Amino acid sequence: MDHKEPWDKDYKSRGRLWGGSARRLPDLPEGSLVLELGCGNGKTLASMISRPWKIMAIDISFQALRLCGPSKAERLAADVRYLPFKDGVFGALFAFHVTGHLFQEGRRMAASEACRVLEAGGKIFFAEFGMDDLRYGQGEEVEPGTFKRGSGILTHYFSTDEVKDLFSSLKVQSLEVHSWRMRVQGQDLPRSEVEAAFQKS
Ligand SMILES: C[S@@+](CC[C@H](N)C(=O)[O-])C[C@H]1O[C@@H](n2cnc3c(N)ncnc32)[C@H](O)[C@@H]1O
Repeated sequence: MDHKEPWDKDYKSRGRLWGGSARRLPDLPEGSLVLELGCGNGKTLASMISRPWKIMAIDISFQALRLCGPSKAERLAADVRYLPFKDGVFGALFAFHVTGHLFQEGRRMAASEACRVLEAGGKIFFAEFGMDDLRYGQGEEVEPGTFKRGSGILTHYFSTDEVKDLFSSLKVQSLEVHSWRMRVQGQDLPRSEVEAAFQKS
């Protein structure tokens, strides 16, 4: 399946898709080389650039990269399943809501690539929607827990065990479900995210 086309189309027709405040970023040593996977229109990148890090950001969509605007971060059109980087070069990786847009095999490939490019002692910070999220079940179920919307974009909803399994070669530093409520058309509905941090030995 082509992952690029539905995303390019969505960004082209709707512009910046992700706004609001970016998630809290961890403290990393000055000069750390960090990689953001699936940077989208640069929501997380905007808060990363105030940090004293060397930043590389990739996304499969040219349209998304264009919407990031000027930045000190290096940006590259690339697929998280086939990272164009050498082994062990990054001190940290951010993977927020990107692997969840892949099929199971793609998620495994992306996790394996993420672990490959991470240096010893390096960390991966991960966030994806959880199975209790209000959007679980919306669209056509194309694999267990993975739904395709009309736009052609896939979204997979994770359990904590699945996330642990995906990064089983790494040490778990934290792994939790973050739940909150959101009011939609007068209804109080559940949101859910699995957040995790892993470290390479
Ligand atoms: C939900 S957005 C998340 C954006 C950003 N990480 C954030 O949290 O604001 C998902 C992004 O992943 C990108 N993406 C989807 N599949 C990809 C792939 N195989 N390789 C790289 N990027 C991909 C999409 O183009 C999209 O910009």
